[in-house]
Amino acid sequence: MLLSIRSLTKRFPGTLALDDVRFDLKAGEVHALLGENGAGKSTLIKCLTGAYRPDGGDITLDGEKISPRSTSEAQELGIGTVYQEVNLLPNLTVAQNLCFGREPRRMGMIQTRAMTRQADAMLEAYGLDIDVTRDLGLYSVAIQQIVAIARAVALSGKVLILDEPTASLDAREVEMLFEVVRGLREKGLGIVFVSHFLDQVFELSDRVTVLRNGRHVVTEDIAELDRVKLIEHMLGHALETEVDDHATPHDDSAPKRPEMLKFRQMGRAGVVHPFDLDVRQGEVVGLAGLLGSGRTESAEFLFGLRSGGTATDTDGDVPLDTPRKAIAAGFGFAPEDRKTDGIVADLSVRENIALALQAARGWARPIPRAEQARLADMYIERLDIRTSDAEKRVGELSGGNQQKVVLARWLAMNPRFLILDEPTRGIDVGAHAEILRLIHELTAEGMALLVISSELDELIAVSDRVIVVRDRRHVAELTGSDIRTDTIVHAIAHRDDIGEVA
Ligand SMILES: Nc1ncnc2c1ncn2[C@@H]1O[C@H](COP(=O)(O)OP(=O)(O)OP(=O)(O)O)[C@@H](O)[C@H]1O
Ligand SMILES: [Mg+2]
Repeated sequence: MLLSIRSLTKRFPGTLALDDVRFDLKAGEVHALLGENGAGKSTLIKCLTGAYRPDGGDITLDGEKISPRSTSEAQELGIGTVYQEVNLLPNLTVAQNLCFGREPRRMGMIQTRAMTRQADAMLEAYGLDIDVTRDLGLYSVAIQQIVAIARAVALSGKVLILDEPTASLDAREVEMLFEVVRGLREKGLGIVFVSHFLDQVFELSDRVTVLRNGRHVVTEDIAELDRVKLIEHMLGHALETEVDDHATPHDDSAPKRPEMLKFRQMGRAGVVHPFDLDVRQGEVVGLAGLLGSGRTESAEFLFGLRSGGTATDTDGDVPLDTPRKAIAAGFGFAPEDRKTDGIVADLSVRENIALALQAARGWARPIPRAEQARLADMYIERLDIRTSDAEKRVGELSGGNQQKVVLARWLAMNPRFLILDEPTRGIDVGAHAEILRLIHELTAEGMALLVISSELDELIAVSDRVIVVRDRRHVAELTGSDIRTDTIVHAIAHRDDIGEVA
């Protein structure tokens, strides 16, 4: 066994994050680590990488007990990690990132040419032929991810840990990353793979370990498991109540709802080709398209984060020059990159949920603490946010639960038009179904939603209308029985046999 974990325990105030957990990793396998939000996956990984000190248990690598005290010590021992947010420096060149801390030097001077050669050689093994003298930040997230892997493998070389590495990649990029991972498996590395995308788990993994509430539930060959069994292990009970029963086929006879908002000529040349959009009360408009196609930028125009275009409602003009005005007009926007735009890690769950509502009311009229607490408790229950209480710092919640807090914050404002960019990314299966159900409840109350999602099944399940964005243009609009995977994929992949809109 390459890596063995026995009786691993990690306590946080009020939480037993890991309780007597065992985990084994063989050389030459991809081992998926699964579990609901807050199950303990990231905590286990942080114990391995020296970011956390476990309270008890043993970690054995290559037959020797280890207890890494820092990520660099873990790296020296052979354990490298790549997180969802690329932990490299975008303003340094690719070569500088790859060689950082071990630059070839002569008399103390960094040898730039030697460094470039070294970096080229490192990337060649991954089939990546890019200019390593350019800034890393100029390349796509997928390429940055692979550079991060190349660095981690070069530094460590025994165990590679991938914590939700694919969350911000599109389908082609995921395939590219998986090729790299398969190559490393062939070379005999042990790879730990954390993901909420079950398709990817089945595609890439050899074995699976499920955690639940900080405990080991099962370890099994992937061939022995089907989807339903796997989900039941994660949830700890049978599935029936969790599956999304709203995915009814779309029919063409649905009655038209009252008009709410009319957007005209939204966009700007070079960002998104100007588009028109009418939104009706209680309607869910889906935005489909590859990453970088202009989906998020479209949303940014609708929310006043970018200017271009006009909006009107039944009362007249809706000024949208700034997000503040958009919020005042009853708009909300839960962005994709919640790490930077979303939560305030040092504030409590209660404060985070009350934040947007407070901003909308104006800081001169503070929301009474009791009302904040009431709101927080309501959304903790409604979204099943796993926290010991509303006063916990958001930074101490698991990644998926932090996302639910961001969602709660916007819902608390009761907007009439809410934009959700990748609302279920990083969220586990149970909460996923819960959020889809919530979307249906909200629209029944008249709220209109614009949902951006890379998961077509999800988009098809929630949308009354799907707009496909390709190369920064809205290229197709699908309604009723035309909302299907094949029609969306065709439009994304540029097949002109479907109705194109200007
Ligand atoms: N620094 C911390 N301080 C306090 N509690 C923490 C801290 N880090 C994690 N926890 C708690 O430990 C538990 C496990 O969290 P962890 O981040 O390991 O979950 P996860 O399985 O990675 O979930 P997700 O899928 O949402 O990322 C959660 O209850 C979380 O609130
Ligand atoms: Mg996590």
